[in-house]
Amino acid sequence: MSSVVNIIYFLIFNTLIAINAENYEIDVNGYVAYCPCMGRFGNQADHFLGALSFSHALNRTLILPPWVEYRKGESKSVQVPFKTYFKVKSLQEFTKVIPMEDFMDQLSDKVWPTGHRISFCYSERRKLDGTSSGSCNAKDGNPFFSFWDGFGIDFDKSEFFGPLLTYDVIHRGMDVIWNEKYSPDKYPVLAFTGAPAAFPVQAENVHLHKYLKWSPEIDSKADKFIKNFLPKGSFIGIHLRNGIDWIRACDHIKDVKQLFASAQCLGYNNEKGALSMDICLPSQEQLIRKIKRVVKKFKEIHKNNEIKSIYVASDNNHMIEYLNEHLRRMKIKAFRLPENNPHVDLAILGRANYFIGNCVSSFSAFVKRERDARGFPSEFFGYPNEKAQKSSARHEEL
Ligand SMILES: *[C@@H]1O[C@H](CO)[C@@H](O)[C@H](O)[C@H]1NC(C)=O
Repeated sequence: MSSVVNIIYFLIFNTLIAINAENYEIDVNGYVAYCPCMGRFGNQADHFLGALSFSHALNRTLILPPWVEYRKGESKSVQVPFKTYFKVKSLQEFTKVIPMEDFMDQLSDKVWPTGHRISFCYSERRKLDGTSSGSCNAKDGNPFFSFWDGFGIDFDKSEFFGPLLTYDVIHRGMDVIWNEKYSPDKYPVLAFTGAPAAFPVQAENVHLHKYLKWSPEIDSKADKFIKNFLPKGSFIGIHLRNGIDWIRACDHIKDVKQLFASAQCLGYNNEKGALSMDICLPSQEQLIRKIKRVVKKFKEIHKNNEIKSIYVASDNNHMIEYLNEHLRRMKIKAFRLPENNPHVDLAILGRANYFIGNCVSSFSAFVKRERDARGFPSEFFGYPNEKAQKSSARHEEL
């Protein structure tokens, strides 16, 4: 009897595996691989859109890298499979992609065998101690080592593609030059030490965000929180960036015209405004003023549909008590996730009836792009400049 049960388990188990793992055929036009070695999720997502555009322009398959995460108290990065957070299928509607673990399992022996792995970089990367390596030195440092080594990848050669070639396939017809210099038959995999992309994401690639769809797990966690914890009715999602590293970063605004994702509100050439402390690190009073203004605006537009709550995502201080205290008279309560889960935060912010973000933050930029793709409204704290609206703001104080 038990052997029959075993056989049944065996059959079910193997069927599940067969359903889960898609079988991929070799792309004769080659592949693009890279390590998302710069920054946290927001930066990596910006880079991802550029890499997607780059591989599409070269007509190569993009190998979807795992997301690189840094955990408190751990010296090495952790790699999280791409599909833990996003659907592979919706990206395939735009271009050819394959998750890195599937590529390594199914295709690497044939396409990119050990002993023939070239690492691509713009120019030499020095060793950690600053001395010359004469190579891309692709596995030196964190997260570089963990990323490639997690797949058992060692590099046998380096290729410096700069200064003649750049990633900018949008403006210069670079795609043709890449394919001439590095034909897929001789270079089946272009494996880059960092993302073949600009930061922040180029304006022309922002729209690609629409192919980035949350995985069923993230979707369901976000929906459950909204359903079970937020009061019935509409809510505003806000993103507060106020940790110590952020405060230090905002110190630099006097020296620069743009910082991180600020082009999303200021325009790529500052055609829509100038960087300011109000935008980078708005005061508590500014936050409240902006929220109240949005609540009123929402009511004017939607008549019977009022804002009932505020959902807060933050890297540091969610200011729940402060918000509750100042919004009590409007009968609005503030909420946050009980645990630290930035991806569920993002998914919830993406679903809010209104979003107010930090224009400088690439985390906020992710939300803004997703909402734009869905036609949902967003604004930024401290933008546009409050001065023009100051006299009316005084009358607003409750
Ligand atoms: C792009 O690559 C695919 C194979 O992956 C090939 O069938 C197709 O013809 C290529 N397109 C162009 C325009 O070369």
